[in-house]
Amino acid sequence: MTTVVNPSAPGGAARQAAGLPRLLPAAPEDLHAHLARYGPTPYQRRPGVLISAIEASGLTGRGGAAFPVYRKLAAVARARAGRKVAVANGAESEPASRKDELLLRVAPHLVLDGLQLAGEAVGATEAHLYLHAAAGPEILRALAERGRDRLRVTVTQAPPRFLAGQETALVNRLGGGPARPTFQPPRASERGLGGAPTLVQNVETLAHLALIARYGPRWFRAVGTDAEPGSMLVTIHQPGGTRVREAGIGTPLATLLGTGAEVQAWLIGGYHGAWLPLPDAVGLTLDNASLARFGAAAGAGVLAALPSDRCGLIETARVAGYLAAESAGQCGPCLNGLPRIAAGLAELAGPRPRRQTAADLERWAGLVTGRGACHHPDGTVRFVRSALTTFAPEIARHATGQCCASYHGATNRRPFLPLPGGWPTREEDWT
Ligand SMILES: Cc1cc2nc3c(=O)[nH]c(=O)nc-3n(C[C@H](O)[C@H](O)[C@H](O)COP(=O)(O)O)c2cc1C
Ligand code: SF4
Repeated sequence: MTTVVNPSAPGGAARQAAGLPRLLPAAPEDLHAHLARYGPTPYQRRPGVLISAIEASGLTGRGGAAFPVYRKLAAVARARAGRKVAVANGAESEPASRKDELLLRVAPHLVLDGLQLAGEAVGATEAHLYLHAAAGPEILRALAERGRDRLRVTVTQAPPRFLAGQETALVNRLGGGPARPTFQPPRASERGLGGAPTLVQNVETLAHLALIARYGPRWFRAVGTDAEPGSMLVTIHQPGGTRVREAGIGTPLATLLGTGAEVQAWLIGGYHGAWLPLPDAVGLTLDNASLARFGAAAGAGVLAALPSDRCGLIETARVAGYLAAESAGQCGPCLNGLPRIAAGLAELAGPRPRRQTAADLERWAGLVTGRGACHHPDGTVRFVRSALTTFAPEIARHATGQCCASYHGATNRRPFLPLPGGWPTREEDWT
């Protein structure tokens, strides 16, 4: 485990550039410890300078889509409006992700610095913090400690739904409605909360932004690849348990996930991500340029190493059932198509599925792709299609009544990938 160097000590920033973690101190830091480590926030009252620094850093969003941060900052800064909004998205609605929860617990002031700095850069008149129910008391305590922030921060709890963290769902929820997505355009940066230009950034993105404001773009670029600079928090699920760590973009996946005989496949990018077969994927690295070769993306950094004694079809069917139930029920292809796909997968996961089921799944996947107001059907289809390819040998095994997770006639159905405790969730959880 790398130790965190105090960057406010002489030479500290330069030394810290070489090492990770950058974002995660060993223990939660209150305002006093935070200021001792980092000093006060720079760039105040110089908003254009910060946007240029963020452009030079190459920082992209860490909430899943990897969109260049400076472009959103510039769009909201440019907008002419009396009211502008900045939002820190800590919904962490992906059930397999734990990184935002940990960041908000150990480095809450870094996130709040980032929210204030980004808010100032775009000329925001109000700020919001949108939090998962699992967010600990540290972030609220940190808010209470900060007396001199320019923007007052309103806290809203995100409902425990997969789509609650999606940008338009967040805007609807902050506006007092249900956390359901709506069609884009307009983008939130053009017309968001109450029609005001709204900057929505993931909490980890804001923490990186706060560090770039202090140490500059060159420091940020000392880790990562030229095209995808910096580090990212990843949540890693392995046979031995779940952990969050910070990794340089471009790190070999094999060093994060392992490749031994006890691992049969990797899941990259969470439940809108993709299964990758081993050993084919063994040389890939944690960056989108590398992952694109397998149709995958890092997303919000959820990684899993599926143990050899679990069935990838059973795992995919469990998650697909959850994703189908999480449809916001507004678009026909999503509402009707995803349950059909989930039922097909449940059949494949069982003994002796019908021969045409895998082909039917491919056809149904084609029918829902690109047909929703949000990315949910497309993300679900990517996940399902990757399972059909990666677990093709397992589909053939099931056709003969066997399963890789079977021993002495019994199938190991112990769940591996996490789903919310109360799943399936209830209708009233939307609000
Ligand atoms: C289904 C779905 C769920 C999402 N959930 C989250 C989330 O929980 N937290 C988050 O920051 N972004 C989430 N996003 C991405 C947001 O829509 C948005 O792109 C992000 O908050 C922007 O911040 P960033 O550019 O800093 O990543 C989700 C997107 C989708 C399609
Ligand atoms: S595509 Fe699905 S999840 Fe997205 S808005 Fe439409 S019904 Fe809701």
